[in-house]
Amino acid sequence: MTEPVKESATILDATAGNRMMWRTKEDSRILWIDIEPDLTITPDILLDCTDTKFEEKRFNLIVFDPPHIVGGRKYGSVFSTPNMTEQGKKWRPGRSVPAYYGSDKYQTRNELLSFITKAEKEFYRILSDNGVLFIKWNEVTIPLEEILGIFSKWKIMIKIPVKKIKNEDTFTYWLLLMKDIANPLISESINIIRSETIKPLENW
Ligand SMILES: C[S@@+](CC[C@H](N)C(=O)[O-])C[C@H]1O[C@@H](n2cnc3c(N)ncnc32)[C@H](O)[C@@H]1O
Repeated sequence: MTEPVKESATILDATAGNRMMWRTKEDSRILWIDIEPDLTITPDILLDCTDTKFEEKRFNLIVFDPPHIVGGRKYGSVFSTPNMTEQGKKWRPGRSVPAYYGSDKYQTRNELLSFITKAEKEFYRILSDNGVLFIKWNEVTIPLEEILGIFSKWKIMIKIPVKKIKNEDTFTYWLLLMKDIANPLISESINIIRSETIKPLENW
């Protein structure tokens, strides 16, 4: 029988990749999972986030940075190369930092939408009632509105658009969604910082 991994962790990174977005790369409170076995930073558990088998309501926070590009071939480009040493060999320096995007995982737009639909269902099950879901989404393949349609049972608390790349029209969004709001006071105060009106941050 395999040993239980980080049994007390209440934060889940459901699509951990190489943990590029994290300042801390190791913490007993955070469980990093991913479906890709060739990553440089091996996930705590190699696992499909749409079917985790975790107990209901286990996590207080789920971080979800899914692939947003489709149709990639594994190792076909720098962004579909999970191993950072291999990425480095392909990289022409001076543009930005290479990162694995998982574009090899879903070949069509519909496959990606189907993955996100299944993930939403699983996150709703394993997140505590007042837990929050932190999502990063880039609109290059699918507009944010379509993704938010999948998350109709969730309340948008924070929405931050970031136009990161010069001369590109697509935005990356950072969103904080809440599954359920039992306490109206919390709901009200968080709504004050609901940021529909925040202007895109250039050069962030
Ligand atoms: C945009 S990358 C994440 C990058 C990561 N946030 C980082 O900081 O390095 C998307 C990740 O989702 C993973 N992924 C795709 N489908 C998955 C699934 N069904 N379950 C778990 N991870 C999945 C990919 O393998 C890839 O590592």
